[in-house]
Amino acid sequence: MSKLTKEQELLNEIEKLQKQLEIANNRVKTAKYGLVWMEVPEAFEQETENQLPVLDEVKEKAIKNDDDKPTHILIEGDNYHALTCLNYTHKEKIDLIYIDPPYNTGSDGFRYRDKRVVEKFPDGTDVPKDHPLRHSYWLSFMSKRLELASNLLKPEGVILISINEEEYSQLKLLCDKIFQESNYMTSFTVKVRHEDRILKGDKDYHETTEQLLLYRKSPRFKTIKRLQDNTSIDKYVYSVEELIDSPEKVMMGSKEVLVFKPHEYKIIKSEPSAEKFQKINIRGSIKEGNSSGRFHMQYLEEKNHLFNYLYKVPNMGDDMFDYRYFLSRKSEDNLNGFYFQGVPLSKDDIKEVPYPNYLDFEEAFNNVGYEGGIEFRNGKKPVDFIKFLFSIGTINKDAVILDFFAGSGSTGHAVMEQNSIDKGNRQVILCTNNENNIAHEITYPRIKNVICGYSQTKNQKEILFELPLNPKNISDNTAILEAKNKFLTDEFKVRYNEIKEEVRKDKYSIYGIISKASNVKGFGNSLKYYKTSFVGKNNILSASDEDKSLLAHKAGCLLAIAENTLDEIEATQFFQFFENSEKVTAVYFKEEMDEMNTFLQKVEEVQKPISLYLFSWGNSSDFEGLFDHIPNLTIKTIPQPILEIYKNIYNIITA
Ligand SMILES: C[S@@+](CC[C@H](N)C(=O)[O-])C[C@H]1O[C@@H](n2cnc3c(N)ncnc32)[C@H](O)[C@@H]1O
Repeated sequence: MSKLTKEQELLNEIEKLQKQLEIANNRVKTAKYGLVWMEVPEAFEQETENQLPVLDEVKEKAIKNDDDKPTHILIEGDNYHALTCLNYTHKEKIDLIYIDPPYNTGSDGFRYRDKRVVEKFPDGTDVPKDHPLRHSYWLSFMSKRLELASNLLKPEGVILISINEEEYSQLKLLCDKIFQESNYMTSFTVKVRHEDRILKGDKDYHETTEQLLLYRKSPRFKTIKRLQDNTSIDKYVYSVEELIDSPEKVMMGSKEVLVFKPHEYKIIKSEPSAEKFQKINIRGSIKEGNSSGRFHMQYLEEKNHLFNYLYKVPNMGDDMFDYRYFLSRKSEDNLNGFYFQGVPLSKDDIKEVPYPNYLDFEEAFNNVGYEGGIEFRNGKKPVDFIKFLFSIGTINKDAVILDFFAGSGSTGHAVMEQNSIDKGNRQVILCTNNENNIAHEITYPRIKNVICGYSQTKNQKEILFELPLNPKNISDNTAILEAKNKFLTDEFKVRYNEIKEEVRKDKYSIYGIISKASNVKGFGNSLKYYKTSFVGKNNILSASDEDKSLLAHKAGCLLAIAENTLDEIEATQFFQFFENSEKVTAVYFKEEMDEMNTFLQKVEEVQKPISLYLFSWGNSSDFEGLFDHIPNLTIKTIPQPILEIYKNIYNIITA
């Protein structure tokens, strides 16, 4: 082939590749990758016609303790409206959001809310679980709320979402869209139940795990590592006694290894000390990951038909011993051998290591039943699990934490417990609807319990489950086994009440499975309870002057929440004052000036820094000169800034 032809050929090849690249680039530019679903309006969108949401305080539900601990917020209402309000009060103010939404299992309370396609067919039967729009309903519902929630996170904030396999894939793609894929941190697999604990007999696979997604708001979030304390000698509990003076010697590579047959040595386990060994199982990455593992694989693996042989290998390991013991496997049933390591000489005392993406919370989930003194069978999450989420989500002990699918209020419980452990000042905002009276009968009573204290009674089920599945040392304890076996069978479900009755009649009381009650001390703290409501007659985009006046009039709680001055100290037909221990919020919400002088006088009397909110038709206040002589005062206006945020939301959500 001539040189020219060769060059020509290469040029042709380059041209071909360039064309292919161009096509590929165009495809990338025009391709739409991601989720597509049918947007389904929710019932409230027709009922409230996008009126202006506000928050009203339910004063009789406030809990006040003068203990310098935070005041938490519980909002009753659809979380779409609560989140809309929070977009005004808490834009970029939240450190951590944890939510545990309905998983869309068909039985977890998630209702297909669209009025056009009802949740029941005309003959009264349920819309089936395989309804073609089931994911669309769920995604429409979740996307709006996540969109609203993302505005609330601080740049260094995170959101954690519990989910199971029903909607995991959909949620991952949805969150990639809302929070951006580059902010996806990980999905944890969380063990929530024991393999043997069958929930539903009709499932092909038994779900023992759930997922937990972690997204950050932006790269400003710094991954939190777990601290591994290598200073502990707790595991150094083994010593070796050689029972013969001249064991067999064999060469392994360049090393002369002493071989002790079973009965020629003794391994003693006793109190930890820095002169003893830690016993390390040679498995997984250890096999290739360090010199002991490699030595084992090279020379000892081939001898693994010799059980319980002890090898003493000279000059190995970074500890105070100039040898290292290896122990071959115990029997045919055991796969791996061990080595014995002394306390490392050159160890970093405390190391930061990444958290694993598998979390075993089985035990905590087992014991969740009566946590907080209430029973809630709709996905109650254990307090320990949520406290763990705080530890991976934020190091800020003054964090503001939000859960807008609060259910039984576990997140509130976890916040107060964590504060009491590390003297933190975290504040929680909980939002829940009141379906099946949950806000009144579950969420609020639990938070009250946690604040004020309560008597915790464990039910029979929990107590039975607390017993080991195969009790070894109480094998003669037939009554326990009997009760437990009954519980694990369908018969138990059918005979639940009868069995409960038998238990009540002391049948098993000698074994201590009669209910135990204990008093749990409250953590103190305070609570404010709000309810979503609506003002105005028109839709957000076409609010009339009358609607705007009403919004200003009813904005007090929003402003108090925005400023975190939650205690109302005065209210008239023209103005309101709120305070906390450090500052005051003063609101003049009327256009008419009738009471302005009185208001001004009261503002002058305030000794703390003041945030002043004044009615204005626009964005700027007409009264700036009026307050110039008062120090530590900032002036803002209402209602226009609130309305603008609502309009933005409306435009984004309906885009
Ligand atoms: C799975 S539960 C959360 C359980 C909670 N993590 C706990 O530990 O108790 C979901 C909760 O969200 C509530 N919920 C569902 N849709 C809602 C909505 N649109 N607004 C407010 N709450 C809602 C339900 O009432 C239910 O209690």
